[in-house]
Amino acid sequence: MAVFKPQEFVEKQVRWIRETVRGKAIVALSGGVDSTVAAVLAERAIGSELLGIHVDTGLMRKGESEKLRAVFQRLGLHFRIVNASERFLKAIEGVADPEEKRRIIGAEFIRVFDEEAKSFGAEYLVQGTIAPDWIESGDTARDRIKSHHNVGGLPSTLQLRLVEPLRDLYKDEVREIARYLGVETSERQPFPGPGLAIRIAGEVNEERLETVREACAIVEEEIEKAYASSIITELPWQYFAVLLPIRSVGVQGDVRAYGYTIVVRAVRSKDAMTARFSDLPRELLEQISTRITNRLSSKVTRVLFDITNKPPATIEWE
Ligand code: XMP
Repeated sequence: MAVFKPQEFVEKQVRWIRETVRGKAIVALSGGVDSTVAAVLAERAIGSELLGIHVDTGLMRKGESEKLRAVFQRLGLHFRIVNASERFLKAIEGVADPEEKRRIIGAEFIRVFDEEAKSFGAEYLVQGTIAPDWIESGDTARDRIKSHHNVGGLPSTLQLRLVEPLRDLYKDEVREIARYLGVETSERQPFPGPGLAIRIAGEVNEERLETVREACAIVEEEIEKAYASSIITELPWQYFAVLLPIRSVGVQGDVRAYGYTIVVRAVRSKDAMTARFSDLPRELLEQISTRITNRLSSKVTRVLFDITNKPPATIEWE
């Protein structure tokens, strides 16, 4: 197999974008490494003819939009951050079905994005689609596993011509390019477009979002700390918390409590097509569990660790 050469790939794709895009282009900056790399390539090709849009859906992780603002600024991208939290929360109010949630979030995203694209006068849409995205989204309903919102909706409804410079790549190759381009989020774990909404089994509301956001932050902090102090020798591919609306009885002091269940998920993977649950040290799991139940003592009475591989499970719960 030929060795993958980031420099050659970058030069070739920048040339290709320059030849293909004959007008203004827009890119959805989720903060993920794929869309960031696609944006940097397009920026190199067409400069200020490209506008990045970061939609703050209110389904983001703790402090995420502020962190991303700094990253995009350092990369010299032209971008806008649109705060659309209220719109998204209202749109998914009372919806429990995973595919329905994804569909609504995808549709709302398109509406916000379309407004921005029109006001900028864009004719092209740059997307960081990579091979597993379109393979897993499937071409027919029968083989669709999940409708990933970065592939499921955007192109067909927006009247924009699609530009996908990373379409044939796998994640490890995108990371190589990101490192080559100096993208500081190159090792960032993937985060799904529908955000924390699909890390809450069932209905999403502010209280559940706040709870899973805090639990996710603890899982990330503890695992990254363990990695930094060599307690674990590699970072899992993804590591996060999921909230189950199933309540169980606990005891706080002498008082009976009745709270949510948090599931800790950490997996090893190369490309998200298959994954194995991470073999985290017992002490680390205990530290995560203790911190979650201390910090969220009024909300969470139980913490579980997911020991399912993909297949048969998927990485995300929804
Ligand atoms: P699953 O859960 O299907 O996920 O094993 C495979 C990879 O895709 C991510 N994922 C998404 N990414 N939009 C995205 O951009 C989505 O709708 C979406 N759903 C899942 C997931 O985090 C994992 O890395």
